[in-house]
Amino acid sequence: MTRAFGIIGWPLGHTMSPALHNWGFAELGLDARYEAWPLRPDDLPAFMARVRETPIHGLSVTIPHKRAVMPFLDRISDRAQAIGAVNTLYWDNGLLCGENTDVVGVVAPLRTLDPMPRSALVLGAGGAARAAVAGFLELGLEVAVSNRTRAKGESLAADFAVPCVDWDERMDNGWGLVCNTTPLGMSGDLADRTPFDPARLGPDGVAYDIVYNPLKTRFLAEAEAAGRRTISGLEMFLHQGLAQFRLWTGRDMDEDGARTLLLAALA
Ligand code: ATR
Repeated sequence: MTRAFGIIGWPLGHTMSPALHNWGFAELGLDARYEAWPLRPDDLPAFMARVRETPIHGLSVTIPHKRAVMPFLDRISDRAQAIGAVNTLYWDNGLLCGENTDVVGVVAPLRTLDPMPRSALVLGAGGAARAAVAGFLELGLEVAVSNRTRAKGESLAADFAVPCVDWDERMDNGWGLVCNTTPLGMSGDLADRTPFDPARLGPDGVAYDIVYNPLKTRFLAEAEAAGRRTISGLEMFLHQGLAQFRLWTGRDMDEDGARTLLLAALA
């Protein structure tokens, strides 16, 4: 029987997850299908009952369900617990488990950097910022947070015991890595905005944007022009998805092929 997978979120809008996972299933000859399920917050309890009955073999979870889904699970990883959010559901020996692969997604593209930055500033204080802070701390970087609304930045900073830098002073420090998790630079009204002047990065600095639409935000374009290294949000999206696929199937989808697929979808 074809195994069922999918993504829940509201509003779900356009998501590249179905294309990615269905490509992986086809490439490895697995009898499985991944669908997009827009789900209103009120409908979450009934859906979670369905996950167990149908059963649904694996689920990606996105906004606004990443925290709300946690009480419905049998086991939650330490990492997801520390971040306070789950983006992946999978089964292990009959137990419905919650994991957060956003952390793996955020750090995977950094592992090949040479030289490796020593300090990182995370811009923003939402869910993506929490994953970035957790991931960079796991890598051993010195991490700080800066957020437009100071109180929210301070709350995140306190949870991870890292400093909070005032938004007006965020460019003052010669950071090794600056990671944007705000929507500044996203296509639409914010496309011509940028959260940081890359000339203010350290000389070996890295500009990392979680935004992947457009692929080259103004932040990344200016960083490139200033001779700094860049990482696009596509890499985080790709690697969080590869990690989900591994949890669900025990197999690895071809990374280069998957990247080519996503690049074509975003071109
Ligand atoms: P996610 O969970 O995807 O990270 P989120 O929880 O909506 O998204 O968080 C978005 C982050 O981007 C917030 O930290 C927000 O800052 P505020 O706390 O001040 O709202 C930040 N953000 C959104 N729009 C912004 C803008 N125009 N300039 C600067 N920061 C912005």
